[in-house]
Amino acid sequence: MTNKYMYFIANWKMFGNLKTLNSLNKVISFVKKFKKNKIKLIYCPPFTLLSPLNNKLKLTTIDLGAQNCHQSESYGANTGQINSEMIKAVGAKYVILGHSENRVLGENDRLINLKVKNSIKAGLKIIFCIGESLNQKKKKQTKKILSDQISQGLKKIKNKKKIIIAYEPIWAIGSGLIPKETEILEIVKFIKRKVRGSIVLYGGSVNSKNINTLKKIHNVDGFLIGGASQNSNNFIDIIKKSFN
Ligand code: PGA
Repeated sequence: MTNKYMYFIANWKMFGNLKTLNSLNKVISFVKKFKKNKIKLIYCPPFTLLSPLNNKLKLTTIDLGAQNCHQSESYGANTGQINSEMIKAVGAKYVILGHSENRVLGENDRLINLKVKNSIKAGLKIIFCIGESLNQKKKKQTKKILSDQISQGLKKIKNKKKIIIAYEPIWAIGSGLIPKETEILEIVKFIKRKVRGSIVLYGGSVNSKNINTLKKIHNVDGFLIGGASQNSNNFIDIIKKSFN
């Protein structure tokens, strides 16, 4: 950890309902007792749960984030879409952008850049995801891919230091596989050199077992956690082990 805080971001993806939110009571009481000056916890539920979760988190130190948004800064005739203003209005402080599960649906760097710009304008903090495919890794293109995703996705963004960058190798997401410690160390170093002063997280199959290895990588400022964040016991376990 080279940052003031260790980040734990829960990405619930397309999971969860009103009932699921009850399971967060455990996390809330855990955080109250924990050395909370050292951790930043951010929950990113699906859009449908932003408002009820905001009510639940009101008296806590846990922050709220959305998993994506539409690129438009204004309201408009965009059926099925939600923009950053709307996300901000229900109490979210963060938004995940550039996630590979959305890139694969056709989001390109130009579109992501527009989303980043307008979300910053709306007052949201950005969790910017980058990562290479297995094929690109095999061809030793990882740094080139990440470098392009950063240059284009964060094009003309002035205060890049405020962006949280999540390095998520596509092949590690949901697969149970993670890169070698030395690989993560090197990539995080590379990203921090490219975007000076940035907060850099690792994401992809983080769980309560491999956290014992991942936590040793000293330049990683935290984790973006999908599957394992949906179970409060697992999530708490990951946080606890990160500091043991
Ligand atoms: P995972 O997802 O932890 O389930 O691999 C991480 C992510 O996609 O953000």
